[in-house]
Amino acid sequence: MEKAGVVRALRAIVGGPHVLTEGDLTAYEQDWRKRERGHALAVVRPANTREVAEVVKCCAAAGVSIVPQGGNTGMVVGSTPDASGTQVVLSLQRLNRVRVVDGANLTVTVEAGCILQTLQEACEAQGFLFPLSLAAEGSCTIGGNLATNAGGTQVVRYGNTRELCLGLEVVTAQGEIWDGLTGLRKDNTGYDLRHLFVGSEGTLGIITAATMKLYPLPVTQLTAFAAVPSLDAAVQLLGLAHKHLNAGLTGFEVMGDFALGLVRKHFPQQKVPFEGMSSYCVVLENSDQESEDHARQQLERLLEAALEQGCVLDAVVAENLAQARALWHIRESIPLAQAQEGLNIKHDISIAVSRIPSFVQEADAALQVAFPGVRLVNYGHLGDGNLHYNVQAPVDADAEVFLTTLEGPINTLVYALVDQYRGSISAEHGIGSLKRDKLAHHKSPVALGAMRAIKTALDPHNTLNPGRVLRRE
Ligand code: FAD
Ligand code: MLT
Ligand code: ZN
Repeated sequence: MEKAGVVRALRAIVGGPHVLTEGDLTAYEQDWRKRERGHALAVVRPANTREVAEVVKCCAAAGVSIVPQGGNTGMVVGSTPDASGTQVVLSLQRLNRVRVVDGANLTVTVEAGCILQTLQEACEAQGFLFPLSLAAEGSCTIGGNLATNAGGTQVVRYGNTRELCLGLEVVTAQGEIWDGLTGLRKDNTGYDLRHLFVGSEGTLGIITAATMKLYPLPVTQLTAFAAVPSLDAAVQLLGLAHKHLNAGLTGFEVMGDFALGLVRKHFPQQKVPFEGMSSYCVVLENSDQESEDHARQQLERLLEAALEQGCVLDAVVAENLAQARALWHIRESIPLAQAQEGLNIKHDISIAVSRIPSFVQEADAALQVAFPGVRLVNYGHLGDGNLHYNVQAPVDADAEVFLTTLEGPINTLVYALVDQYRGSISAEHGIGSLKRDKLAHHKSPVALGAMRAIKTALDPHNTLNPGRVLRRE
């Protein structure tokens, strides 16, 4: 079918105003990190699951491939079209209803395009916690979180998005609708399809709705910000935090001094404590079901023990919600500060927590020898063994030239070390197209073969997000 014919058919399904072909489509065609700018045949914005299914059938019949898109905050160039002008961006933004909160079942059923923060607020209004939390929550969607199996800052207690998901509604590559929104916590009737679609980055099906777990709202959440003398000390503090806070430990993030320096530089209005005191700081959270006093006592005992053992140099505990938000905001501002500093190489690696300090020591040293002057922006979810071990160009270097010439060799060095440590080259952000070619070198042939077999079985004509995660054949 001609391009004009496809556009006409899509307009007949979703209505003229919801098929965009002209005007400024940057928000749909450029990725958040500004790594690539594509060009879409059209951006289609269906209103409901039935329309999504019809759009998929129409595109499949016309041989047009589809790039599913939520909030377009992904980090690995997975939600924007390629430059060919032949792909349809299928935006889920209009499927944004919170369908039902089932308090007794502790679940919420929500449409894929619902903004994460909207979902958190809707659940809180009914007295429940939806714990997934990340800095992009004001613009990312729950469908995108599921498709990337997003992590965020509460994983140490509540798990990744996958662990929060009890059921999905999915439109298949053939345009069929699979309704798996059972909300069951136990169901062993064969293969668990939900787990195929979670983390599949839009390559196996289009998630249109999900049933997610809820938790009781904590009575209190206390935040502490601590200067620690080293990464080893941060790991020691994590051990103490597990012991003293147990299930109350809901967040444990580490931030290198250079990363915090970028926040000081680009967001000078933020008061970042402990300047010049230590090479790392930690922000941690204690959530409690008993009382604020109980939580505070626990936290004080933890910090006393840590000071005594020398794994904390100094610490502040937020006195109120506003202070707690400000401390978390410092951590959450690092990716934005880094983006302001210029284009950069991002790594979201995971390694056993116990081995992270020696990994960083080895990687820092090897990078400085091979690429003198590179600036290491190291921060992340230490409680989950997940670091954003990012690399910024040397001060005077042209960031674009740096990326073009050195991203490959720098990734090769870092990922080889990750392999030695039996870690993962992507703990959170996924593969998209940015890491696709690296995946082939870091995943076993057996695993890659199984992944390809699954892709071929579910999407034999490569309609859904072709070339993402796996290379086109
Ligand atoms: P998009 O970017 O639109 O899409 C991401 C991928 O999912 C694409 O491959 C797309 O095709 C696919 N997709 C989207 N919606 C659907 C759907 N309904 N069905 C099928 N496929 C779909 N990630 C973390 O894990 N932890 C963090 O702490 C974190 N912090 C972030 C902070 C910032 C400031 C930013 C910008 C990003 C951060 N991210 C983080 C990256 C993260 O992947 C996303 O923010 C989020 O999970 C993606 O949601 P989205 O709706 O924007 O998806
Ligand atoms: C984060 O933890 O802040 C995110 O995963 C985003 C990023 O590292 O850029
Ligand atoms: Zn992260």
